Amino acid sequence: MTDHFSTQAVHAGEDKRKPYGALTTPIIKTSTYTFENTAEILDFMRHKAAGDQPVRNEYGRYSNPTQSVAERKIAILEGGERALLFASGMCAITTTMLALLSSGDHLVMVSDCYHRTREFALTFLSRWGIETTLVPVDEPAALTAAIRPATRLIFAETPTNPYLRVLDLSRTVEVARRHNIITMIDSTFATPINLRPLEYGVDLVIHSATKYLGGHNDLLAGVVIGSSEVVARIEKARGVLGGVSNPHDAYLLIRGLKTIDLRVHRQNENGQHVAQFLEGHPAVRRVYYPGLPSHPDHEIARQQMSGFGGVVSFEIEGDFEKTRRFIDRLRLPYIGPTLGGVESVIEQIAALFSLDPAERQQAGIKDNLVRYALGIENAEDLIADLDQALAGL
Ligand SMILES: Cc1ncc(COP(=O)(O)O)c(C=O)c1O
Repeated sequence: MTDHFSTQAVHAGEDKRKPYGALTTPIIKTSTYTFENTAEILDFMRHKAAGDQPVRNEYGRYSNPTQSVAERKIAILEGGERALLFASGMCAITTTMLALLSSGDHLVMVSDCYHRTREFALTFLSRWGIETTLVPVDEPAALTAAIRPATRLIFAETPTNPYLRVLDLSRTVEVARRHNIITMIDSTFATPINLRPLEYGVDLVIHSATKYLGGHNDLLAGVVIGSSEVVARIEKARGVLGGVSNPHDAYLLIRGLKTIDLRVHRQNENGQHVAQFLEGHPAVRRVYYPGLPSHPDHEIARQQMSGFGGVVSFEIEGDFEKTRRFIDRLRLPYIGPTLGGVESVIEQIAALFSLDPAERQQAGIKDNLVRYALGIENAEDLIADLDQALAGL
């Protein structure tokens, strides 16, 4: 019998009987693991050589029991065979790309994605002879045209940051399979509740677990989920590059995951209500939310996703100064650059991007663009707060 998602979120991956009869999974703080004698080492080494699943831990850079529980829970929630936890979302992305790509290989990346991911491909991978071609999210012909014999990986984010564009997963997987290319989807904005990329045949899903998976703005972590075979290759790279998570953050992640079903459903509702309110407000020029029929990818989002998420991006009718005044008038959200936690967080993207207007313009960051990452507060309160901040701008 397979449990529902919310039940799995509470129980999956955890032993019913834990050390000392504790109800919660313990934080195991140790850098290394000791052996009784040489016979135990040799037995461990024989299992390792046979490629058996590890029966015990060896050293903290390879595994940790608290981290393993978080990995098992996330693998089950995302519907994959195995998950690997990292020190941050960026660490999951960079380690995975380094594990799967070699000099001379080619990467195709959907251009509208987290700017550090793009930066890694364009300024780091390029130094080791790995070329990247950027393609628009909504042009399947451009994706096909970008494929070369050396293409090994297609990377995309969906929905994207900050315009919440939605990639057609079936089409992308179909192109990739035709050319025997691995697909990797950053599903951070979607969460395993709103989107199931593995069910579309995607090979690897990654999350910045710092966001919705952790859910409380109190940890940094990243995770990659996929088949045991591909994940084993990435695990080897993690052991060498060293970007493991830590047991305390793994504990917080396990705790955060228990409420993900409640949190994300509330955030979906808040996203839809706030987006609809903003779209009808004369002080707002444009709203970007895949749950609105006005969004360019609404149709594909409706088919592919079961909820549209808690992030709403919008443009204020006005310039940098007017947008800044609006942000500073808000009472409820924190001002900052993250998303996915229980507290609402808002950001005038241009303000944190660069002090130089020319640099912002070159990067396509509009001065009046706002990203509102909704928390789990009451939608009426969030809307009343927006209403008072927009009044008479
Ligand atoms: C979509 C997306 N992917 C990856 C990352 C990187 O995650 P982390 O901050 O955990 O390294 C972010 C961070 O903002 C993000 O928004």
